[in-house]
Amino acid sequence: MEQINAKRPMQAFINPPTPSAGDPVLRICTNDRDEMGGPVCGKRGGAEIKVELEKGIEERGIDITISTINCMGYCSRGPALMLDPGTSFIFQAGPEDVPEILDIAEKLAADTKALDP
Ligand code: FES
Repeated sequence: MEQINAKRPMQAFINPPTPSAGDPVLRICTNDRDEMGGPVCGKRGGAEIKVELEKGIEERGIDITISTINCMGYCSRGPALMLDPGTSFIFQAGPEDVPEILDIAEKLAADTKALDP
């Protein structure tokens, strides 16, 4: 029997930050518009993941800004996140992935700071 609606594993495509590319930012798609006609990140838990990420960022003292974005074109792979500098992506995130996402954000913030003159 085929299993449906199983949690797909998170996918992370991480690029190193580039020099002088600005402060680290973690953007998460929380789009929940029904008129999109398909799966959207907000209806797959994007907003709840953002809340957990905000808590973790504060608890760990990670020097990164978190913000929301309304669709980046990867709706079928959501909830989707984007990290800058470096333009990295995380797809199919779930609440259980928050610690790993925080690890990625923490490394990006440290690597970005190391590039500052
Ligand atoms: S709804 Fe999140 S990427 Fe489109």
